[in-house]
Amino acid sequence: MSGVSVTKGAEDAVPATTDLVVLSNVNKHFGALHVLQDIDLTIARGEVVVVIGPSGSGKSTLCRTINRLETIDSGSIAIDGKPLPEEGRELARLRADVGMVFQSFNLFAHKTVLENVMLGQLKVRRTDKKAAEEKARSLLDRVGVGSQADKYPAQLSGGQQQRVAIARALAMNPKVMLFDEPTSALDPEMINEVLEVMQQLARDGMTMVVVTHEMGFARSAANRVVFMADGKIVEEATPEEFFSNPRSDRAKDFLSKILHH
Ligand SMILES: Nc1ncnc2c1ncn2[C@@H]1O[C@H](COP(=O)(O)OP(=O)(O)OP(=O)(O)O)[C@@H](O)[C@H]1O
Ligand SMILES: [Mg+2]
Repeated sequence: MSGVSVTKGAEDAVPATTDLVVLSNVNKHFGALHVLQDIDLTIARGEVVVVIGPSGSGKSTLCRTINRLETIDSGSIAIDGKPLPEEGRELARLRADVGMVFQSFNLFAHKTVLENVMLGQLKVRRTDKKAAEEKARSLLDRVGVGSQADKYPAQLSGGQQQRVAIARALAMNPKVMLFDEPTSALDPEMINEVLEVMQQLARDGMTMVVVTHEMGFARSAANRVVFMADGKIVEEATPEEFFSNPRSDRAKDFLSKILHH
């Protein structure tokens, strides 16, 4: 198309960097436990990274450091070229830029589905009420629960609640979405409806970090698999490489357990 006009400055039109999330030499301890050890991880804009590894390897802690739900002892974390803010309003803004979806949905029980998806927009983004409602309804439609907008969370299935939680995170226009085992609390028949929403997000170009045991999702949606064990990133590879030819004994052992259970 020749009619496309570039009215913005060049600095707006072109992202400053393709790297959206950069962890450099990150270390964290819980008392004597060295839970994150020299973590270097760079996530590009639009990339989908699946993090897998044994229980206790530090996957959740890694996710939580990225939106500063956990502090780090040394190293650095930057989002979109800026170091994580320590506190205050800047930190609230960062948290809004980094959408997080947990195993437990953490919806407000005394608010309707619609209100849950409007709340952050009103409080953090200071969106006006009408615009917030329009956006909430459109996101609820997008994740397939538009008809549930006026119900309370307890009136929804687990799969529906998790899709509301995804819509709530998306309502903040996050730069990156973190998912920490989003389907592991769900009954089997509800897992796919949540994975499908995540697949669509990935296709739409969302930058995503996903901790999951759903290897089908990893194979079909991930650009890269990061395998963690004992607080370290042991391997990083494309899903094809990782699943067909894991290099480390830890990864081979882990895959043999989860693929044949
Ligand atoms: N707040 C905390 N205080 C002390 N130890 C913690 C805390 N949070 C996590 N840990 C410990 O840190 C280690 C890593 O925990 P983390 O939750 O990051 O692992 P994970 O890889 O997500 O495991 P899982 O697959 O079971 O979810 C574990 O040994 C855990 O017991
Ligand atoms: Mg975990």
